[in-house]
Amino acid sequence: MQKKLLDYLEIEKENHLMQLIDLLKIPTISSDSKFNSAMKRGATWLQNHIKEIGFNNVTIIENRDKVKNINPPVISANKKGHPIVYGEWLEAGPNAKTILIYGHYDVQPVDPINLWETLPFEPTIRNGKIYARGSSDDKGQFFCHLKALEAHMKLFGKLPVNVKILLEGEEESDSSLDEFIINNKELLKCDYAVISDTEWIAPDTPSICYALRGIAYVEVKVTGPNRDLHSGTFGGAVDNPIQVLASMISKLKDEHGKITIPNFYDDVLELTEEERNEFKKLPFNEENYKKDLGVAALNGEAGYSTLERTWARPSLDVHGITGGYTGEGAKTVLPSWASAKISSRIVPHQKPNEISKKIADYLRDIAPPTVKVEVDELHYGGPVLVNRHGEGITAAIKAFKKAFNTQKVVFMREGGSIPIVTVFENELNAPSILMGFGLPDDNIHSPNESFALENFFGGIRTAAIFYDLLK
Ligand code: BES
Ligand code: ZN
Repeated sequence: MQKKLLDYLEIEKENHLMQLIDLLKIPTISSDSKFNSAMKRGATWLQNHIKEIGFNNVTIIENRDKVKNINPPVISANKKGHPIVYGEWLEAGPNAKTILIYGHYDVQPVDPINLWETLPFEPTIRNGKIYARGSSDDKGQFFCHLKALEAHMKLFGKLPVNVKILLEGEEESDSSLDEFIINNKELLKCDYAVISDTEWIAPDTPSICYALRGIAYVEVKVTGPNRDLHSGTFGGAVDNPIQVLASMISKLKDEHGKITIPNFYDDVLELTEEERNEFKKLPFNEENYKKDLGVAALNGEAGYSTLERTWARPSLDVHGITGGYTGEGAKTVLPSWASAKISSRIVPHQKPNEISKKIADYLRDIAPPTVKVEVDELHYGGPVLVNRHGEGITAAIKAFKKAFNTQKVVFMREGGSIPIVTVFENELNAPSILMGFGLPDDNIHSPNESFALENFFGGIRTAAIFYDLLK
């Protein structure tokens, strides 16, 4: 059975790559409304593709106020944002497992475009990789599952398990998929959620991710005088909001890299000695890491290694500061206001809404009486820690070994976030299997994003074997 699958997938390689190229050409940037029609095109492309594979009830759940009823089942409206694509094949019967495959077809913006060697939506193959925005994050990765299931369908006329496919178009911006899940629990009921949207620790080292950081994001605005002022007339007497904000920001961390917000670390789950030892054994080279980033030295929380800092310790970063005059030449303005976008990557068992509140309260507390402070919570997602044992994970390890012809499969954590995982856990009671196919040098969210062809083809093989093992 598996031999048949692998032989078939070998023959279909070129064909699969051509199809991925087609999908990658659609500029599905969710955060920019100029691309709304591309988002629709992307959803329709996927709907047609999933239908052709042989899935049933393949539906696009449109944005806003539209209620789609398909019978059965009933899908209620997705209140805002970009379309969701849903499809199912439930003919494996009530005793077979049901797997929910999640992926996101939206991608990050492409700026700075001038740093791309080839255009982000003109997929190009070089150095054994396919270069395009979304190639690794996440179109290339979830497409592996579609091709694997198609192989089962073509060869055997059926799937080894019941499958529900859920693809969203808002992961990279402000996802409303949680509402959809809460409103459609019966529809999405499953034994496991399977997600390929993470990276390996190193090439040739298939990695299963067992923890993700969450995120709490705020925007703070500091307002001083009621209008922009002349810095000659008023400078020295009126506090400058940009400098006030800079000073507030500098108080968020101390010189040991500790976040100074009161009670910030209260719920942080400490790493076990066992995990720390496992991290040390992983193929991670700090010298190469620095070289790749072009930095002479690293900096972070004292007492923790780089992998510990990025995977299992909370961090806090300022993403942008706005205010005053940034145009050409000199303008002697004492600005009326300044604002900053700030987020914290949080770890189990910190809660995103509580952390946003702690950040907001602290910023208000440390602000001088010369300014007014407003804090908005932009979005957040919870941290994840999945059980490493169980049938699903065991099947994923076996599948990786067979598909990549290696005994070397490792467990790792990730510093990034996939907010929907906690929703699967809390609302559907479904554990997630994070079997990613990306590599650390895929440049996700950066110019020249790529996906290694070996990982694309190997990812398809992995998924094909994985579903077979679950039957
Ligand atoms: N695929 C990433 C998550 C990820 C990042 C996994 C790095 C492994 C390594 C995902 O698409 C992503 O970027 N998520 C956002 C979520 C945020 C917008 C709430 C993130 O982590 O910034
Ligand atoms: Zn992603």
